[in-house]
Parts: sequence; structure tokens; C-alpha cells
Amino acid sequence: MSESKNRVTVSTLMEMKQRQQKITVLTAYDFSFAQQIDHAGVDVVLVGDSLGMVVQGRETTIPVTLEEMVYHAQLVERGLKRSLLLVDLPFMSYSTTDQALRSAGRLMKEGGAQMVKLEGGADQVETVALLVSRNIPVAAHLGLQPQSVHRLGGYPVQGRQQEAAQQMVADALALEQAGASLLVLECVPAVLAAEITAALKIPVIGIGAGRQCDGQVLVLYDLLGITVGKVPRFVKNFMEESGGIAEALTAYVEAVREGTFPAQQHTFV
Ligand code: KIV
Repeated sequence: MSESKNRVTVSTLMEMKQRQQKITVLTAYDFSFAQQIDHAGVDVVLVGDSLGMVVQGRETTIPVTLEEMVYHAQLVERGLKRSLLLVDLPFMSYSTTDQALRSAGRLMKEGGAQMVKLEGGADQVETVALLVSRNIPVAAHLGLQPQSVHRLGGYPVQGRQQEAAQQMVADALALEQAGASLLVLECVPAVLAAEITAALKIPVIGIGAGRQCDGQVLVLYDLLGITVGKVPRFVKNFMEESGGIAEALTAYVEAVREGTFPAQQHTFV
């Protein structure tokens, strides 16, 4: 269970980083799971565009629409009392700054989002600055960016070459400078993620980015072990050691807070 019943805000997350208290993040796509996750004490609930794959059965996140994100955000929002609601801007909903403002506005006004997430580095600095200037808190997403799957030709680990690693550090600093409140780092060598986490004042949330990040995020269905087929290296099935869903969610929260998840076998070098 959570330590405090107060609603998690952007300031709460900053304070947690300063106190070196690990931040727990989990995806949700509907009311009932959102209620369970909130009750387990997860700090941030992400309505991820991963819903395209795990809810809709699509190959990638590319086809997910803004309409669908608004709809799922509304379902999740009704289940939350304490967790902060973070919602993804889907592919092609922020391709210009004006479009980003309109899309993020809908996620907040209609979907109840307290923060929106977008993928990209220095190219998104202008968009982040505009959204923040209009009181829309933004989470940036670096490392593996699933919306770039067709350019990348798959889902490879990012930042292994020195030049790419330096670019990622520069991008992270630029996004923080532009006003981002949070950074998600996906599939990045643990050493690089630790360097970025130390360099930034804002919290860094890892997925396949090692245990030195300020917090961790997982896709709910991976944590519950209901994803069929091969799962990525960074996934842990918390149902294996638990008697039910509530217990698995609590085990995840405790493992992140204690720093026992992710372990070495969930980490990239
Ligand atoms: O869409 C999503 O679920 C995400 C997480 C994997 C971070 O962006």
C-alpha cells in the first residue's frame, strides 16, 4: 500500500527524486485494473499507446488514434484516487507544435491526464516548451522509441555506440531545459541510464534501463504474465511468485522501492 493517500503530483515526483525514493509506474488501460494499481500504491499510471499491441492486438503502436487514447484515459481516470495519470500522445498526434497543443489539450480536458508523454529528443524541444508554457506537464521518452519502429527496423537497444550515447545525454538535458517534468528511458545500457539519471534534476523512469534510474515502468500485462510468446529481457512476471493480481502488483511496488527489480538478468549492457 502507498505511504500517503495524497494525490501524486509533479512536485511529489521531484521530491521523491530528491529523497532518493524510487518511483513506481505501471501501464493501465481500463477502470478495474486502474483501481487495483492505485490501491497497490503505484505512483504513476501510464495509459500507454502500448494498448495498440496488448489490448487491440496490433503489430505496433502506430495505428493507435488520439480518440482511442482519450477513451482509455477516461476509463483509467475513474479508477484512480492517488496515482498521477500520465497519457501517451499517439503517433502523428504531435507532428507540429499546434497539433501537439490541441492533442495534449484533449488528453487533459477530456481524458483527465495530469501529464502527457511524447517520444523524441532535441527535435521535440520546441513542442515541450510550448506545452509547458500552456501548463501541460510533459514526460519525454528517449532510448527505444516504439513509434519509430519502421525507421529503426525493429526494437533494438539504443545508445550502445559512443556517439549515440552522447547524443542521448544531450537530448535528455535539452528536454529538461525545455521544461519536461519526467523522462522515460527505454532499452538503454544500464551505465548510460545511470549517467543520464545523475545528470538530470527531473526523475528518470527506466524500462530495460537498469536499476540506477529514479523509478521503473512496466507494461501491466507483462507483469501479470499474460503476454503470449517471447517477452523482452527487461520483463518480470510477478504473478509467478504471487497468489493473485493484488499480490503481484504489491510485489512489483515493493521490488522497485527496495531496488531488487530490475535485477541483472533484466538489464542491458
Ligand atoms: O506505451 C507504453 O506502454 C510505454 C511504456 C513502455 C513506457 O510507453
